[in-house]
Amino acid sequence: MSPLLPHLVLYLLLLTVVTGETLQPRFYSETCPEAESIVRREMKKAMIKEARSVASVMRLQFHDCFINGCDASLLLDDTPNMLGEKLSLSNINSLRSFEVVDDIKEALERACPATVSCADIIIMASRDAVALTGGPDWEVKLGRKDSLTASQKDSDDVMPSPRANATFLIDLFKRFDLSVKDMVALSGSHSIGQGRCFSIMFRLYNQSGSGKPDPALEPGYKKKLNKLCPLSVDQNVTGDLDATPQVFDNQYFKDLVSGRGFLNSDQTLYTNRETREYVKMFSEDQGEFFRAFEEGMVKMGDLQSGRPGEVRFNCRVVNRRPIHGLLEA
Ligand code: HEM
Ligand SMILES: *[C@@H]1O[C@H](CO)[C@@H](O)[C@H](O)[C@H]1NC(C)=O
Ligand SMILES: *[C@@H]1O[C@H](CO)[C@@H](O)[C@H](O)[C@H]1NC(C)=O
Ligand SMILES: *[C@@H]1O[C@H](CO)[C@@H](O)[C@H](O)[C@H]1NC(C)=O
Repeated sequence: MSPLLPHLVLYLLLLTVVTGETLQPRFYSETCPEAESIVRREMKKAMIKEARSVASVMRLQFHDCFINGCDASLLLDDTPNMLGEKLSLSNINSLRSFEVVDDIKEALERACPATVSCADIIIMASRDAVALTGGPDWEVKLGRKDSLTASQKDSDDVMPSPRANATFLIDLFKRFDLSVKDMVALSGSHSIGQGRCFSIMFRLYNQSGSGKPDPALEPGYKKKLNKLCPLSVDQNVTGDLDATPQVFDNQYFKDLVSGRGFLNSDQTLYTNRETREYVKMFSEDQGEFFRAFEEGMVKMGDLQSGRPGEVRFNCRVVNRRPIHGLLEA
């Protein structure tokens, strides 16, 4: 054996600890060659059952990756000694379609037991949500491990409010090495799906405590939202995030240009000088939006915590049980 070999092994070990898993395309080509087609098939089934569900699943990538990296921490159910991410301010009564992820996991466990991580399922399924609704299709890097823990507070500390303005969002995304262009393109995810009245009541009736609606709202659209969300409304009632909520296209950006953004965080991208140029560009050139979106999704998918992980058997629970802060083998 070369005398350098032990050093090399140690070096590689350290590298793995520091940078986390090494992600690569076709990671499961030997161990589970059908993995990607199984996920695509299950997403197609979910979409036929309920069109919105694929948007709801795609949102999971954002809420997973921003909290300690893409490690499926947000899929963990609470336990008596762990309050997870599902109850956090941005997630409670809002994140949905967890059962779609469960179905995908079940299908994968049948085909290749204990092989494909829940974190990778989220990444593949999010890509599929976009491809299945008319958006771009791209190759994803895989090989993530699932977290052993989750924290409600970690999510509360990071996830942005629908009230957020562009300046705040630029700074937030910068902390994750995502540029202004990445942030605007990724907001284009709101080309599909819905939001609750709860998320826009302040905009409609009391923007920034002014007692008035957000002046950026186009009057006709404002009227429509007032009808959907009167002051007395059940705030779980939902409205479309753009004019074509089942099609992944650049309609979202056209809507922002005409003052028809649903969330304050959406419309502010057109009000703000720095982000407006990108909104304009994407509204005029769908190809440019698609390219920037893919790039943003891949970059967001690279976020990792460097913490130890495992491949869960069930996406909602960890396999290994912590004992006195240590982990059982
Ligand atoms: C830029 C900052 C962002 C903010 C402030 C934000 C906020 C929100 C809010 C408030 C909702 C509606 C939730 C509700 O009313 O229950 C929503 C929905 C959604 N978000 Fe975001 N979001 C952001 C970025 C993203 C990103 C980066 C993605 C994915 C790449 C994403 C994907 C989605 C999707 C697909 C929906 C619709 C989900 C459904 O229909 O169930 N969002 N977002
Ligand atoms: C944007 O939001 C931040 C934090 O919420 C606030 O301090 C700032 O004044 C806002 N900027 C604008 C231009 O409204
Ligand atoms: C609007 O918000 C401000 C500040 O949060 C609050 O003091 C005021 O009572 C609100 N007005 C209405 C009509 O709800
Ligand atoms: C929405 O529904 C949930 C579950 O039924 C309920 O607990 C919550 O209070 C409702 N939220 C709003 C804003 O009305």
